[in-house]
Parts: sequence; structure tokens; C-alpha cells
Amino acid sequence: MRSLRTGLPLAALVTGAALLLSAPAAHAADTPLRDLAAAKGKVVGTAVTGSELTGGYGDIAGAQFSSLTPGNAMKWGTVEPTQGSFDWTEADQIVAFAQAHNQQVRGHTLVWHSQNPSWLTNGTWTSAQLGSLLQNHISTEVGRYKGEIAAWDVVNEPFNEDGTYRSTLWYTGLGANYIAQALTWAHAADPAAKLYINDYNVEGVNAKSTALYNLVKSLRAAGVPIDGVGLQAHLILGQVPATLQQNIQRFADLGVDVAITELDVRMALPADATKLAQQKADFKSVVAACVAVTRCVNVTVWGFTDADSWVPGTFPGYGAATPYDENYAPKPAYYGVAEALGGTTTTPPTGACSATYGVTSQWNTGFTGQVTIACTGTALSSWRASWTYGAGQQLTQAWNATCTQSGAAVTCTNASYNGTVPDGGSVTFGFNASWSGSNPVPVVTLG
Ligand code: XIL
Repeated sequence: MRSLRTGLPLAALVTGAALLLSAPAAHAADTPLRDLAAAKGKVVGTAVTGSELTGGYGDIAGAQFSSLTPGNAMKWGTVEPTQGSFDWTEADQIVAFAQAHNQQVRGHTLVWHSQNPSWLTNGTWTSAQLGSLLQNHISTEVGRYKGEIAAWDVVNEPFNEDGTYRSTLWYTGLGANYIAQALTWAHAADPAAKLYINDYNVEGVNAKSTALYNLVKSLRAAGVPIDGVGLQAHLILGQVPATLQQNIQRFADLGVDVAITELDVRMALPADATKLAQQKADFKSVVAACVAVTRCVNVTVWGFTDADSWVPGTFPGYGAATPYDENYAPKPAYYGVAEALGGTTTTPPTGACSATYGVTSQWNTGFTGQVTIACTGTALSSWRASWTYGAGQQLTQAWNATCTQSGAAVTCTNASYNGTVPDGGSVTFGFNASWSGSNPVPVVTLG
């Protein structure tokens, strides 16, 4: 069993735990994804937000994954919001967390048309100026993390859907050669890092992926340092391309590595058991395609929890795109990933309800707490939540539930109006209690 390591100061750990501590997660008895992946010679990763890397989020990120990708922290607009003034806070934090948890870091991303600082995009630059700005950016950022980044997404999203080059400030200002230049500069700054070109809608064989294929082939022939291609894999439910494995294989046959860099599978909300079962199949087939090709080295999900996913904000009406729900309970998709990595699941992947206990405020003699009961892939029509207080805490009042305490044992049942917990939904009740000495968080049992 992997030990709990957060790499955080005790104060941060206690705060995180007090705010959000789940009942034993359904996956607790299963082998972590990172161990399953390692047994297959693969790395399994997730995009992360640095500020979230505490409490339950940090526990899962550290325990389940062997690679982290900063979701935004290493983008140009984040690291150099004002020309010449740098902010590496979040990027440093993620790198430190990864090192404390024996994880790789995928650097993301150096050359892109999006999320650039406004001083850059609003400026008027000659081609020579633009080239030296880019070179300087790459040397500074790659140099800062030299030896600490396993792979860089050097160039992100260079192609249009028809396989022509996207007209970005880089393409317009520097010509198609900006790609070779960027790779060359990155290699000079960290010769050990694997250098990737990353794009979306290049998962199957199509005009865009063929353009990428031809580019990689010509870069290899010209001796440009290119080590891999990233297939983002922002997919729609039920639409995993049938040619995914064939496409991965053709890149591998060029002599480069392949990574699935940003996997998520979005669905029209609300989620239900049928959609979640399809999503499980989709995650499983993507991971299986990577497992089947030796040079496919890494599968990374773009956020492991629905609480930290770009999908709802970017695709209105869509969501539930990641392997864990918003309460950090594993969804069927989690088990799809585990199964594709050779794991056997100990929890029926049809659905589960979980109870999360949290202390929302605490003062010298008392505290306010809450319990959230959440269901995914199944539903409840009534509920009972019980726990045992370990340090003499005593309930004084409850709302949105009927609670009794006998000795240390607390039992709460639903009120007349909130017995139903729908598939994909949750119910929260609250309470006040007294404490003295210590206030340890109990494990809540549902049933
Ligand atoms: C997304 C982030 O997840 C969001 O938080 C941000 O607002 C926009 O960018 N392709 C990429 C990623 O390469 O960098 C994008 O990340 C998602 C699409």
C-alpha cells in the first residue's frame, strides 16, 4: 500500500483535511494507476492546478499518477505577464510536488497562439525581434527547469483541421521554420528533455494528423531534435477514432515517442449511468491503444476530477469529462483506465455513493460541520450516514437531517424533503457540535 505523502507542511495538511476528507474512497483497495502503468512500462499522468495540491486532491494526484502536467502554470502568459518580470510560483510548486512524489513533469507549453501575455500579442515586432523574443522565452523557461522536465510540449497546436499551418503570430512572423527553431532552442537549453509537438484532432488518421506526420518525418530527416508527438485527445463521448492505434503506430514507426497528453471525454450534461458506462469504454479503449504500442510512453488526463476540468467552461452544456467526480470519487472511467492497464477492479463499476465529512468552521469550544452524500452511476431514495467520534465530540444541533448521538456513535437520516440523491447529484446536511482537546475527522459510513 502506498503511504500517504503530501510533501506539504503539517499546517497545510491539517487545514486541507479539516475542510474536505472523504470516507474511504472506493478505490482504496485497488492498485494505484501509476503502479499498474509501471508494470506495463507506461507513465500515467494528470494535468494539475498548483493551488489545489492539498487535501484530497493532492492525495489522489500524488498516489495515482506518475506524471504531472501544469494545466496553465508554465504557459507564457502565466510566467511572464509583464515583459521581463517573471512569476514561477505555481510552476515551481508543481515541480516540487512532483519531485516529492517521485513523478515526472511534462512541461506545457512553450510556443502557442493562445494564453500569451498581452504585451507580446499587442506588440508590433519585426521578424528578427519576434525570433529573439521566442528564443529568449524558450531558453529562459527550459533553462530554469533544466534536468527537471521529462518532456516538453515545445510547440502546441500548429495545424489547421485541413493540415495547413495555423496562421499564428509565430507562423505569420517567422514562417513554418519557427517549429524547427523552437525545437533547436529547447534542445540547447535542456539536451535531456524529450521534445514534443502537441495537437488536438490528430488522434485518428486524418488530414491534420497526416500533416503532423509529414512534418515530423521531415524534421527527423533534417536532424532537428524532435522526440515525440502529443495527441491531446479531448474527445466526445462515443467518438474514439477507430484508427487511434494505427495512428499511434505510424508515428512510432517514424522513430518518435507518442503520448496521449490531454485525455478527457466530455458528455452532454447531466451524466447518467448509460453515459458513464460509455465513457468507461472510451477511456479504456484510448489507454488500451497506448498500451498496445511500445513507443506510446505516457497517457495523461486533462484534470483527474470533474471539479478541476476545463470542459464545462469551454463547452457549454458539456462536462463530467474526467475519471473522478466532483467529490473525488472514482467514476466508471477510472476503472476503464485501470482495466486497460491490466488492473482488476474490486468495486462494481456500475456506480457508487460516497459521503464526505468536512469541518466548515471551528472555534475554541465548538465547530460547524457538514456531510455531503454524492452519487455517480446510481441513486438513493433515502439515506443514513453514521460515524463515531473519536475524541468526545458531541452533536448539539443538526439541519437538513435528523441526527442522534448515543455515546460516541452518531446516526443521521434524511429529512422528509432530501432523501433522494440523484445519479450525478448530491445532498448536504449540516450540524454544530462541541469539542475539546482535538477534533479528529471521522470516517462516515453510508447505509
Ligand atoms: C486549457 C486549461 O485547462 C484551461 O484552464 C485554460 O483556461 C485554457 O487552456 N489544449 C491545450 C491546453 O493544449 O493547454 C488547454 O488547457 C486545453 C486545450
